[in-house]
Amino acid sequence: MKKQLYIKTYGCQMNVYDSGRMADVLAPIGYAPAQAPDSADMVILNTCHIREKASEKVFSELGRLRLLREERKAEGKGDLLIAVAGCVAQAEGEEILARAPYVDIVLGPQAYHKLPEMVAQAERAAAARANGDDTAAGPGRGVLNTDFPEEAKFDFLPAPRAEGPSAFLSIQEGCDKFCTFCVVPYTRGAEYSRPVDAVVAEARGLVEAGVREITLLGQNVNAYHGLDATGTEMGLGDLCRALAEIPGLSRIRYTTSHPRDVDDALIAAHRDLPQMMPFIHLPVQSGSDRILRAMNRGHTRDRYREIVAGLKGSRDDLALSSDFIVGFPGETDKDFRDTMALVEETGFIQAYSFKYSPRPGTPASAMPNQVPEDEKDARLKELQALLQRQQIAFNQDCVGREMDVLLDRVGKHPGQLLGRSPYMQPVHVTAPAEMRNTIARLRIVSAGPNSLGGELVAAADPPHSSERACA
Ligand code: 5AD
Ligand code: SF4
Repeated sequence: MKKQLYIKTYGCQMNVYDSGRMADVLAPIGYAPAQAPDSADMVILNTCHIREKASEKVFSELGRLRLLREERKAEGKGDLLIAVAGCVAQAEGEEILARAPYVDIVLGPQAYHKLPEMVAQAERAAAARANGDDTAAGPGRGVLNTDFPEEAKFDFLPAPRAEGPSAFLSIQEGCDKFCTFCVVPYTRGAEYSRPVDAVVAEARGLVEAGVREITLLGQNVNAYHGLDATGTEMGLGDLCRALAEIPGLSRIRYTTSHPRDVDDALIAAHRDLPQMMPFIHLPVQSGSDRILRAMNRGHTRDRYREIVAGLKGSRDDLALSSDFIVGFPGETDKDFRDTMALVEETGFIQAYSFKYSPRPGTPASAMPNQVPEDEKDARLKELQALLQRQQIAFNQDCVGREMDVLLDRVGKHPGQLLGRSPYMQPVHVTAPAEMRNTIARLRIVSAGPNSLGGELVAAADPPHSSERACA
């Protein structure tokens, strides 16, 4: 009988991709997806360590799972395996096993290909527990793997399955940039780029399975430098060129990029390839040179401006989103004003902004002049109000224009489909159900703060020669 697997994913898109790969790697040993943890034989928490709030969730969720396991046992339903994966597992593996000794498996992001053998081990231990053998399999004997193995996990994972017309494809992992606030270089390890052929083959497989849009993923995606078949390094711009050759692949996106790694080849790819979506997530974090230096970002405010100008020069409809941190140690009101000024000047159509959260082991957590919480709150509120105004203004600006929308879901109301604009805005439209999973030309007729409403102009599948929206 098939066993049921429930994966709860926290954090970034890389974790969403990884959760899919963990499901793929466990399918051959009999685990099928469960709709809810209550019906599952195994639950994996795929965790995020980026900010304190994200990390804290793990332990409260583990408490709930422990109760669930007890309930299952009381109802005679058999054991529940509990696994913790992702960046909290990597950073706090030993602590998890100490604080939550009922956890069966702890594995870091580089060890997912080892999951089947770890599950087999945990299943044997659970069976021994059920037979009253406490020596081999008592609590606190969870299986731990937080190695950074020599071999790349990608070589050992099966090809991902496509679910719908849009897919993630991980091309790069890890980070060598060491921004002083960030845990990623410690939890995801050194930068690694998958070979070009492996990426192209995975993309082809996805497109053959019906995928129309691929989002290339990496913690530093534009630091990509994979080897091609001749052993030559290829950057992200040229990789996008190679992917654009795949018939049927209509949209290429990538995230998250670093300003330092935007090069001419990437700008040229945006200029030349209609498949490149005109929307780039380019985190700046702060508009103050003093703070950017303390963050070890490796770019100034002016350099960021130049990079934005270069990208916007590649096509006139290109738009940006960004990440911001307020209240980094030592940030004064003047520094914060510099951030506000940069936002005013640049204009972002979407953004994520956070209060600085000190992370254990990172240099910034030991810096003097930590900013009081109420100051961080006030700055975040002010910044978010400005970013929200910019987002709403952009949405409203789209009304009356035509854009190509990938209709990938059914909407809330009967006869309605929901899709994504080139700028990732959700767009709802009344359209025949057969149009699901196609790219349709819509005229935008309404705009809310977070979504748009459209009307059908014409089906545009196969894709329009140009997917330029708001043109
Ligand atoms: N505190 C607050 N925000 C952080 N980020 C990363 N580390 C921290 C931290 N310690 C934010 C950055 C990054 C995004 C993924 O999370 O803005 O771009
Ligand atoms: Fe973290 Fe900086 Fe690397 Fe991004 S570039 S993952 S913020 S260290």
